[in-house]
Amino acid sequence: MKYYITTPIFYPNSNPHIGTAYTTVAADTLARYHRLLGDEVYFLTGTDENAQKIVRTAEANHIDPRTYVDGVVERFRELWLALDVSNDDFIRTTEVRHHKVVQHIFTKLYEQGDIYKSVYSGWYCTPCETFWLENKLIEGKCPNADCGRAVELLKEESYFFRLSKYQDALLKHIEGHREFIQPVSRRNEMLRFIEGGLEDLCVSRTTFQWGIKVPFDPKHVIYVWLDALINYISALGYPDGENYGQYWPADVHLMGKDIVRFHAVIWPIILMALNIPLPKVIYGHGWYLTNDGGKISKSRGNVEDSFELIQRYGSDAIRYFLLREMQAGMDGTYSEDNVVERLNRDLANDFGNFVSRSLAMVVKYRKGIVPCPGQDGSQERELKALSHEVKKAVEKSLEVFDPASALEEIWRFVARCNKYVDETAPWVLAKQEELRERLDTVLYTFMECIRIMAVLTAPFMPGLPPRICTLLGLDEGLIRWGETDQWGILEPGIKVHKGEQLFPRIDISQFSTVGETEKVDQDRTTDNISQTQAQKETGEPAPLLEFEPIKEEISIEDFSKLDLRVGKVLSAEKVEKTDKLMKLEVEVAGVVRTVVSGIAKHYASEDLVNQNVVLVANLKPTKLRGITSQGMILAASQGEVLEVLMVNKDLPGGVRIK
Ligand code: MSP
Repeated sequence: MKYYITTPIFYPNSNPHIGTAYTTVAADTLARYHRLLGDEVYFLTGTDENAQKIVRTAEANHIDPRTYVDGVVERFRELWLALDVSNDDFIRTTEVRHHKVVQHIFTKLYEQGDIYKSVYSGWYCTPCETFWLENKLIEGKCPNADCGRAVELLKEESYFFRLSKYQDALLKHIEGHREFIQPVSRRNEMLRFIEGGLEDLCVSRTTFQWGIKVPFDPKHVIYVWLDALINYISALGYPDGENYGQYWPADVHLMGKDIVRFHAVIWPIILMALNIPLPKVIYGHGWYLTNDGGKISKSRGNVEDSFELIQRYGSDAIRYFLLREMQAGMDGTYSEDNVVERLNRDLANDFGNFVSRSLAMVVKYRKGIVPCPGQDGSQERELKALSHEVKKAVEKSLEVFDPASALEEIWRFVARCNKYVDETAPWVLAKQEELRERLDTVLYTFMECIRIMAVLTAPFMPGLPPRICTLLGLDEGLIRWGETDQWGILEPGIKVHKGEQLFPRIDISQFSTVGETEKVDQDRTTDNISQTQAQKETGEPAPLLEFEPIKEEISIEDFSKLDLRVGKVLSAEKVEKTDKLMKLEVEVAGVVRTVVSGIAKHYASEDLVNQNVVLVANLKPTKLRGITSQGMILAASQGEVLEVLMVNKDLPGGVRIK
């Protein structure tokens, strides 16, 4: 089976942001899933470079457009690399391979009478690269809900594409193929839009030169959307490239809801006019919005630096967040607090904790050697049945382009695995020699659960399988989708390792995460209580994971890199609109530093002013809620309790702590 999946090609008029990353990460997940199924996958992404707004931005930056786009395109490539995106091709619409195909198609459509010359008199929104008729404008501005910006009046000689001629054929196609536009809300929107009547589309401009020229009339530049849509076949080498023969029609074009209209109207009509089969599915997902409901976008100035986020939390955690938080057909809410909440709860507490607990038990009770299982009991049978159910549900969700539901299903399995640990209480079994075989079964089942979790999450978090395989001492070849729910894949006798935590929890005082970290601590406390009770009954010593494991040994040289100083607190105030963050002015060696710390729930201003705190003075500054934090203060915390470390002797701010 072949599987051809595309993302939109992105305008490189500004750097990519976390909102734009969603489509690419979702497409990557589907591509990886289909590769695991054994399909021949072609995954395409790229950049849409011939837009008028590119010229405007380049001019505003006093750079020529080519140099400008070259720089931004690199940022896109780097971001996809940082997010482990496995695209097979990256098309730039400034490439010759693309120009040739666009010019060939334009000429063909002109020669067969589907494109004709006339005069365009109407409005144009450059940010949206869209033509608007006077009666569509709202108070004279762009009617796009997300835009509303000024439009420009155009009156110029133009070529037109006969969309109207194909209206009925398009309606018939959409009506006859329920799966063509998804989800169904977008399909209905499109049907209403097309039934309202299609106007012929202006497809050339003469007032600027940047773009692909009409080959037989070079004062005209081809309209950027006509040019851009063609990327889906120019990248395959249309009309006679081998990839075109192998992969077209696309199995799915994935995109945000704002551009479904172009893909559901202009693109199918171009293809119909050329007698080319239409893509199988056009899927329009929602947007990532900020907490206040605005779209994340460069022009709104609320763009998070994606690279910094990835560096801080890791690609898998960011991917997990993006995929989990956007429910099918709906918008998602992005905030760094939400990322940390998901990371601490779902990844560290649920997933990571199961893996480390169960590996620790194999190491503790069987010296790290995976034992041979005995007879299954009802708990194992239940786990096995659930694994079949979850695998099917994940497949079904991915078939309808819904990674969030797929992850929800996987976490049903993860939760059951955690419950299985508590139910089977291996620390109790370990006390009785006659229960040796039962303990073997439980420990073996743990390891199979880890393998299953690694396969199920592989398309979503590609960084995980290699790390898990290292812990289990396995070859990555064992990550086979078809075997997800076939138990007994692991060979007894393999040696496993405890390794490092897969997802270390984000430290309470490091970022703006106090509330969430507390929540996780509470969860863990409950977890520990139940373990402790079980252990009280059996006399089992302290729980395996009551505390975070001690980190790897470091040398004195490593330690001396850390510059800890006494800091005198001059002022302390709560950061507006947060309940966790406090902004401190701290004097260190005669210089006043601003430090943002997640301690507002535990300290009032007067508890801190004039106190000497311990400051990590050489930590790279970071921005929290728009405030640059120049260091971190140390605190000890457990559950509800948090105490800032203080130096009680009257030492001046700046004294080194060693
Ligand atoms: N160049 C056109 C697409 C041409 S495809 C033949 C374009 N580019 S874009 O850079 O403006 O947007 C690319 C994609 O990013 C769109 O699908 C858009 O919906 C998506 N997103 C932009 N901001 C987004 C969010 N905040 N959230 C989710 N997706 C977002 O349109």
